[in-house]
Amino acid sequence: MEKIVGLAKRRGFVFPGSDIYGGIGSTYDYGPLGVLLKNNIRTAWWKAMTQERDDVVGLDSAILMSPKVWEASGHLAGFSDPLVDCKNCKKRWRADHLLEAKSAEMAGLREAPVEMKDVRCPACGGELGEERQFNMMMKTFLGPVEEAAAVVYLRPETAQGIFVNFKNAQESARKRVPFGIAQVGKSFRNEITPGNFIFRTREFEQMEMEFFVKPGTDEEWFESWKQFMMDWFTRFGVKADNLRFLEHAKEKLSHYSKRTVDLEYQYPWGWGELWGCANRTDFDLKQHEKHSGQDLSYRDDLTNERYHPYVIEPALGLDRAMLVFMLDAYEEIDGGRSTTTDAVKDIETVLRFHPAIAPIKAAIFPLSKKEPLTGIAHELRNRLARRWSVQYDETGSVGKRYRRQDEIGTPFCITVDFQTVGEEGVPGDDKVTVRDRDTMLQERVAISELESYLAAKLGC
Ligand code: GAP
Repeated sequence: MEKIVGLAKRRGFVFPGSDIYGGIGSTYDYGPLGVLLKNNIRTAWWKAMTQERDDVVGLDSAILMSPKVWEASGHLAGFSDPLVDCKNCKKRWRADHLLEAKSAEMAGLREAPVEMKDVRCPACGGELGEERQFNMMMKTFLGPVEEAAAVVYLRPETAQGIFVNFKNAQESARKRVPFGIAQVGKSFRNEITPGNFIFRTREFEQMEMEFFVKPGTDEEWFESWKQFMMDWFTRFGVKADNLRFLEHAKEKLSHYSKRTVDLEYQYPWGWGELWGCANRTDFDLKQHEKHSGQDLSYRDDLTNERYHPYVIEPALGLDRAMLVFMLDAYEEIDGGRSTTTDAVKDIETVLRFHPAIAPIKAAIFPLSKKEPLTGIAHELRNRLARRWSVQYDETGSVGKRYRRQDEIGTPFCITVDFQTVGEEGVPGDDKVTVRDRDTMLQERVAISELESYLAAKLGC
């Protein structure tokens, strides 16, 4: 994890937020490569949901919503975590996390269940205070007057924007149930214990999809979306061995859920949630109907049946997905892979990103810093850049330039050399050397065919 955090900062994926001021509690800024990586993940998700399927439409609702939304959804009353303070060092902890850790520590050592009174502060061993509930919604004021009537909340999930637009989207897109509404956007939670880099932060992006189905068909649809989640990650290169499902115990379900299954990832600190799938039943639509006075039922125009659809919700964090793509793609090769270059032969780092996810698709190198090689390489860069995100690099040996691109996961490096342009008495072949990041094989490809060659290899 330390290596990923170091690489992320050094190569411009992720910087600590407000870095020059010493940072601010678990916020992060995405650098030049990070923003490309994040965009690619977002696009891959958006395409798989709304473009490849014809039963899911998109939405982009406002972050600030009427406070009545959060009353209806149950977030004002119940979106809280149990908090305990250390009486000695004043550190704050999630009571449930401490209890879980203590129970794991005591497993097999005693029969009686572990209680909060058995737990001490993990930082200083001090006594912990009374457990209390802490609402995680962030507040602000709408308009110039800071009064109670102007209080609004930064959304803690994007899902509610979808529920309140159920009728708008369904009628305008002329969709029949079963169909879904997808949305990507920022959510905010005043987490008590953010941490593990971009795994848990207070400001993060969610990619959520609410799939509206006829009651009675919900369990079947749940299975199908569960499979979609696993297929999506493996399709974009995440190793199946690092993924598994975890069924939530009935007593741990959120207030709205009939069933929840998490797709978990094997993080460096152990298995943890990556993508949650919940059967939210008709809870949200009925709550919003009750609180708004608007009819949110659905009439099937083929059978004339009227009902409140059930909702299956696969909800994924974009920042967390990015962390997983980086962790899973990361590989170190001790002693290096190449035997033919003068690149430093200590530990070589490769990010084996799927081509669709890789921030830079190809890098173009002139073998020397002189014309006509540089001119041709610039021209190639400009041509390829209309289609893909590419980089031009003329500094250092070609071996070092390969290393630089391997470290950020660029699938292909293209070298313009003397054979391309020809030398005294020898005509150029108008071909370039294309080197594959993973196989390290090199192929001579005609410049006129380079674009179609890359398109076929990249698949995007
Ligand atoms: N609408 C349902 C919902 O929000 P959730 O399990 O609380 O469910 C869904 O969140 C996903 O959002 C999680 O699986 C995780 O990927 C991501 N997520 C939740 N809280 C997060 C946080 N504090 N930081 C980063 N990602 C988070």
